Amino acid sequence: MADNTLKKDPAIDRLLERVVQDVRTFAEKQVTHIQELVRIGLALSGEKDLDRLLEMIVSDARGFTNADGGTLYIKDEDDDILSFAIVQNDTLDISMGGTGEKIIWPPVPLKDKGNENHSNVSAHCALVCDTINIPDVYDAEGFDFQGTKKFDSTTGYRSKSMLVIPMLDHEDEVIGVLQLLNARDRESGEVVTFPEYEIEMITSLASQAAIAITKMRLIKGLENLLNSFVVSIADAIDEKSSYTAGHILNVAELTERIVETIQKSGKGKFADIHFNPDEVAELRMAAWMHDIGKITTPEYVVDKSTKLETIFDRIEIVVYRIEILKRDARIRRLQKALNQNVDVTEDDMQEEQKLDEHMAFLESVNMGGEFLSDESVKKIRELCKLSFDMGGKSVPLLNEDEAKNLMIRKGTLTDEEREIINNHVSVTSKMLGRLPFPKKLHNVPLFAGMHHEKLDGSGYPKGLKGDKIPFAARILAVADIFEALIAVDRPYRPGKTLSESMRILGFMVKDGHLDSDLCDLVVESGLVTQYAKEKLAHWQQDDFDWNGKTYSVEGEVDFEVD
Ligand SMILES: [Fe+2]
Ligand SMILES: [Fe+2]
Repeated sequence: MADNTLKKDPAIDRLLERVVQDVRTFAEKQVTHIQELVRIGLALSGEKDLDRLLEMIVSDARGFTNADGGTLYIKDEDDDILSFAIVQNDTLDISMGGTGEKIIWPPVPLKDKGNENHSNVSAHCALVCDTINIPDVYDAEGFDFQGTKKFDSTTGYRSKSMLVIPMLDHEDEVIGVLQLLNARDRESGEVVTFPEYEIEMITSLASQAAIAITKMRLIKGLENLLNSFVVSIADAIDEKSSYTAGHILNVAELTERIVETIQKSGKGKFADIHFNPDEVAELRMAAWMHDIGKITTPEYVVDKSTKLETIFDRIEIVVYRIEILKRDARIRRLQKALNQNVDVTEDDMQEEQKLDEHMAFLESVNMGGEFLSDESVKKIRELCKLSFDMGGKSVPLLNEDEAKNLMIRKGTLTDEEREIINNHVSVTSKMLGRLPFPKKLHNVPLFAGMHHEKLDGSGYPKGLKGDKIPFAARILAVADIFEALIAVDRPYRPGKTLSESMRILGFMVKDGHLDSDLCDLVVESGLVTQYAKEKLAHWQQDDFDWNGKTYSVEGEVDFEVD
């Protein structure tokens, strides 16, 4: 009977055991690689900073292949070039680009005198969209490695194995090239050829990286578009009135500077207040958009520099009417002299002189510079009774609306016009409320819509009090008021000196309109004096007092917050 059982051969057993072990090691390696790939993929998609993302791509790809060096090129469509984004090399202790030292090496052209540049390995990779695996660049044919060799001769390095991978985005477009240099054996550390089995995985990593870069570029592109759009709207609003030109731009700048000052103070009342980059961006956007509602405010109200101004200053019509009254008076006087055959006397001219005085009075009242007294109101009422005849119709010196405007007690605006101006905040809230802001900017309508609220509840549109006004909105309110106070020109008054503006700001703090800690900080930190130095006309830059201390634009500022 034949013996069917195989004779046990220890050599075969050992061989089988080794094969099983090798397969297990390979499988374990692959599993580790896949796990690593998943981890990298997650990390790449979670990174929000482009520089850090690019660095991560190169260091992770190097870690994955145990490569000594790595270079990441980004393709520039417009210029047909590959720009150096990241260069890393362990042996030479090089880490350039990204968050580190800027790379000043010239980019690699994808075209040379109109012809595709296939002599450079990275350009070739981008052009043909294929992976290139070179065991030793010194023996490689078809590519020009003179630059690499020159680099080696100056650094003493030896570039050998190279893996060049195109980075494809979701539309299979090449957006960059990843070049890995000198793969090292994990045990011996010797430079080896990049193993074929790793290529598929590293290609997959390059793809994930490309998608992460593209996603970030799209987000950045949208953010840039939104920011540019916001700035152009703000410019359009600033352009509406020569009196408020630059207001929004200045408020945005001041807001950012106040935030910076708070971040820097880091002690006392502001020790626990920190703004992360998203919060800063949110407040910046709120500052840019705070007066967007002014888009609907008629220019004649915003720019109303005199009481009788509409699209023109109606005082001119009043001047003509006075001239008619004077002419009528003169005709009466001359008629009387003619009828009675007597000479004209000084007394007879009194009526015309009186009319000149009335005109001078009305012109001064029209300016709205001072508070209107009861006596002046009474006088205007008297003047309303004057009229002249025009084609058989009686025309009053002042019609009802002109009289009402001239009787404005303070400034140049009627209550209705003040209401129209104030309404810009409600329009701001309404307009911004309709925009689908991303989550990190969702407070923009809220902050922007509160820039005229006052801590004591006397602001508008909601009359919010104290804690109901978030800290970010208080910053905006301080920036808005400070800018408006120190602005060189307003419709009915010239600019103020710094000390006058600061005195008014001080009253606003005392009256409980503004956050006093915040105002103290902007003064004591030197922000006010620095800003005044940069922005105010020389005649405005005088010394001012704040909490019993004198501050000078010229003087040194001690930064102290408690
Ligand atoms: Fe406003
Ligand atoms: Fe404003």
